[in-house]
Amino acid sequence: MKSQVLLETKTPLELQDRAPLQPANGEVIVSIRAAALNRRDYWIVQGMYPGIKLPCVPGSDGAGVVSGAESVGEAVEGDWLDAEVIMNPGLDWGVSQRSQSGDFRILGMPDDGTFAEQVAIPAAYLHRKPAHLSWHQAAALPLAGLTAYRAVMVQGQVAKDQVVLVTGIGGGVAGFALQFAKAAGAKVIVTSSSEQKLERAKTLGAAAGFDYRQPDWHKSLLKEFGPVDVVIDSAAGSGYANLVAAAKFGGRIVNYGATTGPPEKLDMFSVFWKQLTLQGTTMGSPGDFAAMLKFVDEHKIVPVVDEVFPLADANAAMQRMAEGEQFGKIVLSV
Ligand SMILES: NC(=O)c1ccc[n+]([C@@H]2O[C@H](COP(=O)([O-])OP(=O)(O)OC[C@H]3O[C@@H](n4cnc5c(N)ncnc54)[C@H](OP(=O)(O)O)[C@@H]3O)[C@@H](O)[C@H]2O)c1
Repeated sequence: MKSQVLLETKTPLELQDRAPLQPANGEVIVSIRAAALNRRDYWIVQGMYPGIKLPCVPGSDGAGVVSGAESVGEAVEGDWLDAEVIMNPGLDWGVSQRSQSGDFRILGMPDDGTFAEQVAIPAAYLHRKPAHLSWHQAAALPLAGLTAYRAVMVQGQVAKDQVVLVTGIGGGVAGFALQFAKAAGAKVIVTSSSEQKLERAKTLGAAAGFDYRQPDWHKSLLKEFGPVDVVIDSAAGSGYANLVAAAKFGGRIVNYGATTGPPEKLDMFSVFWKQLTLQGTTMGSPGDFAAMLKFVDEHKIVPVVDEVFPLADANAAMQRMAEGEQFGKIVLSV
């Protein structure tokens, strides 16, 4: 069973041949057809993620088949034999819809993940692969789709005819946020560091795009569209001030990341006077995952796949993420 293994941070993944996995009680073994990268995998390889435990097989996203009776452990509920599946990578979320429990963790460190020919996972995290998606598209969906769904629909409460700003549209989660907000009937405006990515976003339904490297881009947005109802952001950093300025009275700024660090300054006068909600969000509950899949099926949303690499070339896929040239999800074909 071929697996990409991280032995030490800041070193390339090593392709190892490991013994086939055996399911524990309640578990299934999924034969992976495709996996996808998330920024999390990159942070782990770089040693920039909390609680790193090595060695590990990275990878939170996968799509595959529960292939053969030997793949189904004792006491597995449901008929999963030979099913085509994707997996919710958010393990032990807990019982609250409001936030995750202290036991919450993400598939792909410390639990071995999907950059392998097989992954072991409790059957409770299995879902049927959406029928309208290819293996590559299905693998691209779970982590980023879940994060975007909770950010846009649950925490952002995006509704029809609202104006929504999604920053850094080249990102995997941002792409889904654009698609979900659009499907919910919102007008979506995006930002990017790349003119080409702004143009791609327009083909996915973005009404307009602005280059966040221009210091006053938000003034052009305000002039053209007025203030926005909801911002979906994962950059924070020095650009956060522009998001506060772009938000409407009563608006919401939802953050699922802080790629460029904490905001350099926070204009508290605007925050309280405009009655803004600054809302954090992380992945999503099992209920959010099920609701995301239903939404994707109803709107026949197709994840944007940037590039597909063979499993053996996982380090090249990581390099593509490091360079930041991608638009959408980077996928591994297994
Ligand atoms: N909380 C959670 O559950 C959760 C889940 C997933 C991801 N995250 C976090 O969210 C962030 C994005 O993750 P991802 O997997 O979507 O990453 P990704 O696919 O690698 O995308 C990163 C994108 O960030 C954008 N960006 C970089 N600097 C920016 C800036 N100054 N202003 C606006 N956008 C900027 C870039 O957009 P352009 O290329 O368009 O310039 C880039 O493509 C990461 O920090 C990740 O750790 C958190």
